[in-house]
Amino acid sequence: MHDDLATLLLRRRPWHTLEAPFYTSNGILEAELDLIFSRHWIFVGQEPDVPEPGDVNALAIGNARILILRDDDNQVRAFHNVCRHRGAQLVPDGRSQVGNLVCRYHTWTYGLDGKLLFADHMGAGFDLSCRGLRPIALRSLEGLLFVCLADDPPDDFDVMAKAISPYLAPHRIRDCRIAHQVDLIEEGNWKLTMENNRECYHCSANHPELTVPLFAYGFGFAPESMDDGSRAEVARYEALVTESQGRWEAQGIPSRLIERLSGCATGFRTERLVLDRDGESHTVDTRVACRRLMGDLEEKRLGGLHFWTQPNSWHHLMSDHAITFCALPLGPDRTLLRTTWLVHKDAVEGVDYDLANLVAVWQATNRQDADLVGITQAGVGSRGYTPGPYSPHTEGLVEEFCAWYVERMTAGLGA
Ligand code: FES
Ligand SMILES: [Fe+2]
Repeated sequence: MHDDLATLLLRRRPWHTLEAPFYTSNGILEAELDLIFSRHWIFVGQEPDVPEPGDVNALAIGNARILILRDDDNQVRAFHNVCRHRGAQLVPDGRSQVGNLVCRYHTWTYGLDGKLLFADHMGAGFDLSCRGLRPIALRSLEGLLFVCLADDPPDDFDVMAKAISPYLAPHRIRDCRIAHQVDLIEEGNWKLTMENNRECYHCSANHPELTVPLFAYGFGFAPESMDDGSRAEVARYEALVTESQGRWEAQGIPSRLIERLSGCATGFRTERLVLDRDGESHTVDTRVACRRLMGDLEEKRLGGLHFWTQPNSWHHLMSDHAITFCALPLGPDRTLLRTTWLVHKDAVEGVDYDLANLVAVWQATNRQDADLVGITQAGVGSRGYTPGPYSPHTEGLVEEFCAWYVERMTAGLGA
């Protein structure tokens, strides 16, 4: 498989979709779990998943079952969710609360620091100290949680953290709580989920809710095919960007584009996008959905801060709420998309916000995107599929995603 994979990677045509096996092959998914998902920083959730000591969140990255917890010193930690006795999964997937971590098979008991505290009937010479839970590297980027399954994680996480922290900090994700979380299974390869996210070429035809306050021109356009009306719209958009960025930067709210999506292990991009219609937030009526703003923010009109990470996440932060998206492969043609809506921890449902209104745009958008991923999987897995070209104006960031993927797979195979 690895020779075939090396050949496929080598002959990938830039600015074209990947060949079919990248979307359909079990063997390639196995290689990705090894070379991508086990060797890079993977977004897995946020500190509000585990707000109190003893809170646990368990999930799977491919065949790696992991748990994230908050210990008694308020530190967030990650461990393999595997008992060191006979290997039982220690805590169930999803969120739970524990005092200690007690395996229900033979009651081996671990502290929140991972140390084995108790294991009876193991004989006089049994040494508890060398049977603690196996730790996993974890970093919190202003409350967004990333893990790396490798013993030697990519050391450029700090480059991302330094660049992104000032953008995220005003929204104070650590001081949020989860208003809503949904797991959606998309019937497509995880790269189709990500590629679809990296462009808005499809937005005007598919996303009536999402596009209400979005400028089509924020996502690229073909200058040669523009009429006077379109040119006027572009000018209005550019004037609003200049005005908004100046206003935000004067308040100490960073907004300018930072892009480092390929040519590195820890790829990312951020930009604070302006919202049209005098938009306060990315909602159906463009008003804030939550009266209690995030952190200590007072200004409602902060646009939509976009933050993307390779290989598996994107995030939108407005003045009143934030939404995080975590994509994880379940199989070559199935992907888990976990979407989390965050509001200030003091915001009260029914008083400060209406949940249906808060989640309306992305509930609809996720359904629409899942459908697009599904029809694409059906096509790329079909006999007639051959790689197609990206738009030079609107799909450059899809190309960046694929370029990063090919680079990292190739580097991993070489190593
Ligand atoms: S497998 Fe966990 S205590 Fe035996
Ligand atoms: Fe979409």
